[in-house]
Amino acid sequence: SRPRVVMTVRSGVSVGVAPILTKLEKDCATPLPVLRHVADAMAADVRAGLAVDGGSDLKMILSYVDTLPTGNEKGLFYALDLGGTNFRVLRVQLGGKEERVVATEFEQVSIPQELMFGTSEELFDFIASALAKFAQKEGEKFHLPPGRTREIGFTFSFPVKQTSIKSGILIKWTKGFVVSGTAGKDVVACLNEAMKRLGLDMQVSALVNDTVGTLAGARYWDDDVMVAVILGTGTNACYVERTDAIPKLPDQTSTSGLMIVNTEWGAFSNGLPLTEFDREMDADSINPGEQIFEKTISGMYLGEIVRRVLLKMTKSGLFGNSIPEKLLTPFVLRTPDISAMQQDTSRDLGGVGSILYEIAGVNSDPSARKIVVDVCDAIAKRGGRLAGAGIVGILQKMEEDSKGRIFGKRTVVAMDGGLYEHYPQYRSYLQEAVTELLGTEISKNIVIEHSKDGSGIGAALLAAANSKCEHHL
Ligand code: GLC
Repeated sequence: SRPRVVMTVRSGVSVGVAPILTKLEKDCATPLPVLRHVADAMAADVRAGLAVDGGSDLKMILSYVDTLPTGNEKGLFYALDLGGTNFRVLRVQLGGKEERVVATEFEQVSIPQELMFGTSEELFDFIASALAKFAQKEGEKFHLPPGRTREIGFTFSFPVKQTSIKSGILIKWTKGFVVSGTAGKDVVACLNEAMKRLGLDMQVSALVNDTVGTLAGARYWDDDVMVAVILGTGTNACYVERTDAIPKLPDQTSTSGLMIVNTEWGAFSNGLPLTEFDREMDADSINPGEQIFEKTISGMYLGEIVRRVLLKMTKSGLFGNSIPEKLLTPFVLRTPDISAMQQDTSRDLGGVGSILYEIAGVNSDPSARKIVVDVCDAIAKRGGRLAGAGIVGILQKMEEDSKGRIFGKRTVVAMDGGLYEHYPQYRSYLQEAVTELLGTEISKNIVIEHSKDGSGIGAALLAAANSKCEHHL
């Protein structure tokens, strides 16, 4: 029979396993000085990336969004959202200040795996046909003046060098996409060509990153929103910058004196506490040396890091003599699985046992399960705390430029993404790091708010704001 209480000691499993856990916890520890270093380095990279293109790891992409939603936006708009595992189409009827969002409808389609490894035409044809099908089913809640072209806000969540509010060139794919023939091209042109092939008459009025859509969507309801962060499959942040603090901005003609800047912070790499498992995962990835912050803190990778640790522990007898074959497959252990394991509060960790059995096909005893949970916790803790340090880095840079503007009043960070939404421990580690770094007084002013699916509405709002049809406004 199984031992009943073995939760506090790392006994019961082979002696080789405990030192691996101890070393892991040491290598990915994030004490305050490490967090402070990361926040400072983030702030410095933000500044250097604003000075010149290529000034730091952060691309600091100009979004050309210089007017934020006011609430006055009116009319029927569409949004397309391509960014991770899912693809969404959305329609919004905006009613102006009083009525706000009169009606919305959306559909979500998961992206067939083969399209992530196919050609640009295949991917954009798929998107355009999903859009065409959706657009056909416009119900009575949605009104479009006769003869007018339907307008789209296109959320495209990859690094794009914007050339205007409605055009931009894909720099490279991230998050596991390896679509051939898109990098170096204008993604709006790619979509337009696909729509033309289908005979679909719609036009893109705004091309935005998901962070930018989220910021716009959250700002529609709350004027204190200054930063938006995505923690999902990938990770990124954008914020509202003053144009006079952007030396690389070619002309300073923004009427508001403000512009949203997309940091592409996934590429940050300065001073991160990395382990042998991170290095090996990076080396085996399709983009070695790139997106290191993303690989350390985002949903696509946390489960995979844990899998690599468990594999090594397995060789030292974590599950007795059995070496579970299934654990050899990259990415079989997903971040939702490690989150689910951490939610198990039962004494024998039976839930953890079932997940391990399902995914890796192993029988585990409670002491092995406890080790597995400790590994998940070490990786989630590092991720959440580093994400928190990144956020503080951005706020710190904004505060340095104008004292009191950020820390001296209520400032909202709009947050979205499945990792943030579905991993409570990760979320508390993030908040804990922000509080540790800023102190309790200042951190009371910094409100991290979940803005669920705000990026779709945000993109539609930006399409409205940039619509050439004046009678919308
Ligand atoms: C990746 C993309 C970035 C996006 C982020 C979150 O980092 O490069 O553009 O915002 O994922 O989806």
